[in-house]
Amino acid sequence: MVRKLRSLDWFDSREYYSFARRSTLRAQGLTRAATEGKPVIGICNTASDLNPCNRHLTQVSEAVKRGVWGGGGFPCEFPVISLGEMFLKPSAMLYRNLMSMDVEEMIRANPLDAVVLLGGCDKTIPALLMGAASANIPAIVVPGGPMLSGTFRGKTLGSGTDGRKHFDLYRSGKLDEEDMQELECSIARSPGHCMVMGTASSMALVAESLGMTLPGAAAWPAVDARRNAIAEQSGTHAVRMATHGPTPSEVLTRPAFENAITALMAAGASTNAVVHLLAIAGRLGVPLTLDDFEFISSKSPLLADLKPHGQYLMEDFAYAGGAETLLKYLLPLLNTDALTITGQPLAKQLATHNTHEQQVIRSLNDPLSPDGGIKVLRGNLSPNGALIKTSAASEHLLVTRGRAIVFESKDEMLEKVNDESFQVAEDQVLILRNAGPHGGPGFPEWGQIPMPKSLMVRGVTDVVRMSDARMSGTSYGTVVLHISPEAAVGGPLAIVQNDDIVSLNVHERAINLELSQDTISQRLASLPPRTPAYTRGYGSLFLKHVEQAHLGCDFDFLKHNR
Ligand code: FES
Repeated sequence: MVRKLRSLDWFDSREYYSFARRSTLRAQGLTRAATEGKPVIGICNTASDLNPCNRHLTQVSEAVKRGVWGGGGFPCEFPVISLGEMFLKPSAMLYRNLMSMDVEEMIRANPLDAVVLLGGCDKTIPALLMGAASANIPAIVVPGGPMLSGTFRGKTLGSGTDGRKHFDLYRSGKLDEEDMQELECSIARSPGHCMVMGTASSMALVAESLGMTLPGAAAWPAVDARRNAIAEQSGTHAVRMATHGPTPSEVLTRPAFENAITALMAAGASTNAVVHLLAIAGRLGVPLTLDDFEFISSKSPLLADLKPHGQYLMEDFAYAGGAETLLKYLLPLLNTDALTITGQPLAKQLATHNTHEQQVIRSLNDPLSPDGGIKVLRGNLSPNGALIKTSAASEHLLVTRGRAIVFESKDEMLEKVNDESFQVAEDQVLILRNAGPHGGPGFPEWGQIPMPKSLMVRGVTDVVRMSDARMSGTSYGTVVLHISPEAAVGGPLAIVQNDDIVSLNVHERAINLELSQDTISQRLASLPPRTPAYTRGYGSLFLKHVEQAHLGCDFDFLKHNR
């Protein structure tokens, strides 16, 4: 069925304002022939000097425009809030929902018939998808693509993952200032987002696995000519989508989310993707819970040998066939009839993709691990759930029982872990609290508590860490995250004291505080009231309405209203 162009209501009515709107197009030197009756294709651009990962999207947008003109549409680029992981404090996550509102409202309020969504850095693709899902006009994602692989003294390096490893060498005196200056220029050497299977790469993979991109869009490096080629093709396709759909609600169905989770697990992707997928599903009323991630993880093998858990980088993943090869190998586990923005079901879309021999993406017969990398933990310390990425954890720590060391804040944590006299035993459990959605505030990525210096000098490289924070998708270690409910809203994490015994048993999916129920109840009842971090502005809106990690941290009023 051909859809009526909604832009006609702006430009083709008999009211005065249609005339006035057309005159503003003429004021740009655009003739009637260039615009009249053509689908208006929005290009929702997150390019920003404050977001270096997305800065090159200005050029990508030019390629999209070429495609839109070529397809017979009229491109209109517009800026939205851009969230750069590196610059924003206390966390880009504080602003994900704000950006999603910007995206939703600008799509809905303007004369757009379809929209091309340009994102890259961690929070930008989630916020674009959330906003576009709520606006529900045809939308297509063009990820910005990863940086080229880093190189340093003959070694290939991945941003975040190897950056942290080398920073630990610097902290322990094995690298000096000069080394670090050289490293600074070697690890991030092109436009694009972090090039390990961190959150940005995970969310590009999510977009493609959900069926929201053209095939092959997730992995090409930002500076590869094929990035701009796929942007041009996406612009042309968006023109067709303006009249033929599908809409986000037709693509983002339960089967599509199951496919995206399977792909995430097979890629050993970021724990942050769990929160974002819950939020995107919530925008359309698609039922999705942490249990779905646990269930799908248990039957999805780990296939991609990518950092932070493996050896390769996104550039290698792209040359190995990218998301298309991963999805093709996964076909027996996928909902093959899930509709994609091409208008074709996933299986048909993948039918023409040829795989070739390579080392980066394993087949189902030869997985790196028989199950996915993310496990959901529950117990009296996290009644609503917590996550651990076992693919990036140490096997010998997956069952641990130890005395707690509690940090109340990030500042206290950093001061102590950097103090060589702060003694920690290898079997102790480091706990950071007040770092969740309310506590951070904004759910910062502080969960990979740096290894205490006293352990590092003894050559210990991992220890169990737990928090109500997130961690960067580029991070690694035996790290329990997203403990829900968080300490700041009175979750049990708030009552842990130094030297309490805490147990982790990943095989039983359990995380517990070894105290009697009476003691737990008494300590919970005596928690002091908290002063909110914000009493005005956006921060106060955030604190009033943000949901907990196990629900996706969206605002309650933005969820789908049945
Ligand atoms: Fe932008 Fe890593 S800092 S993706």
